[in-house]
Amino acid sequence: MNTYGEQRIREIVELVNRSEISSIKKTVKEILQLIMDENSSAKDLKDIIERDPPLCSRLLKRANSASYGYPKTIGDIQEAIVCIGFDAVKELALSQKVCELFKKDDIVNGYSRKGLWKHCSAVAICSKMIYRREFGEHGDKIYVAGLLHDLGIIVEDQFFQWHFEQALEKACLENTNLSLVEKEFLLVDHTEIGRAIAEDWDFPEELGAALGFHHQPDLAPEDFERNVLTVFVADYICQREKIGYGDAPYTDEALFRSCLVELDVREKALGIILEELKEEIHKLEQTDWF
Ligand SMILES: [Fe+2]
Ligand SMILES: [Fe+2]
Repeated sequence: MNTYGEQRIREIVELVNRSEISSIKKTVKEILQLIMDENSSAKDLKDIIERDPPLCSRLLKRANSASYGYPKTIGDIQEAIVCIGFDAVKELALSQKVCELFKKDDIVNGYSRKGLWKHCSAVAICSKMIYRREFGEHGDKIYVAGLLHDLGIIVEDQFFQWHFEQALEKACLENTNLSLVEKEFLLVDHTEIGRAIAEDWDFPEELGAALGFHHQPDLAPEDFERNVLTVFVADYICQREKIGYGDAPYTDEALFRSCLVELDVREKALGIILEELKEEIHKLEQTDWF
């Protein structure tokens, strides 16, 4: 990136830090710390959620929705953790917090915040499924990476709406990926914005790498190759299956195949994951998640 690009990124991060978008920073950071800390407890999670009353009430509403099928009313966070589980509440809290960024919904050239929210949720779930099924890992960190991977798009949409819409229109007219035309109108692209925010907010480096390289997994820093490649694969599948808004619908199949080889993930396994993902998305649709 040239000096002008760097300066532009700094200005954007400052704008974000003064805006509503930064309201997710604290909760996401605290839940991330909880994920990283093996000794964290249900009480730590409860404390984080209870410090954010709107989040607390939205989460309880979710926990009481039919999808969890719990026979009695869940009255507080402690009870939610006992009834639906520590991990489920952690994910729910994160999603509910991040979802605040996608509230307004206008549809422009195939893009809508609601569509992007569906896409980000699907990439988060799919990435986690790959980690669980293929690597035998918990997958909670990769879930966060999937959820936030297109954070830069939200920033472009909220602060540079005119330029963003021009980029959307061009991508649409020329049948190309948004990430290839953004720089023309905004001087930077959403991967650079996402990565700069993750860095400024002191998010773990692996999270910043997933945000920064999810369209160029071949350039991922060696230490974070696996999580970057996983988000790329999940992103690819969700766009191929048209789950929500896709910023890169014209996919590079050769790159996708080489990532699968690199990750040692077979097509057959991916087919099973895709079926599970579709089921999960269907369940979420029933609860008005998107
Ligand atoms: Fe993207
Ligand atoms: Fe994406």
